[in-house]
Amino acid sequence: MQETSAGPARRQVIAAAGAVACGAALAGCGSGEPAAAIVPPGIKGKVIARTADVPVGGGKVISKWKIVITQPTSGVFRAFTASCPHRGCAVGRVGDGVIRCPCHGSEFAADSGKCLKGPAEAPLVQYALKVEGDGIIMV
Ligand code: FES
Repeated sequence: MQETSAGPARRQVIAAAGAVACGAALAGCGSGEPAAAIVPPGIKGKVIARTADVPVGGGKVISKWKIVITQPTSGVFRAFTASCPHRGCAVGRVGDGVIRCPCHGSEFAADSGKCLKGPAEAPLVQYALKVEGDGIIMV
């Protein structure tokens, strides 16, 4: 009988601890700043998008290369992996300076890749690029 009455109390404690951990994860994301990374094989030096294809404040997901290009402010372009660090879904919409993952709702800053909203706990990996004429080139 003692085991029965102790069981729920113990489960409640465990459940409460789990709720705190989830709440902490949702309240913020990992503290690390996005790290520049080596571009995926095969695209270094290639024009992967045209500047006109990337709206200011928005972005363009290039599925073929699993890269998202953003233009957080006029004339400033950024490239990130399009693979969400939560469970690997491809990020989708980019608007109002935010990159959104459609799978579980994580959000990332379009200017830095920093995680703004979980469940992801890490930023999007950033890639280096350059703009030549109207071409966005991975470097
Ligand atoms: S895979 Fe992106 S939020 Fe879960």
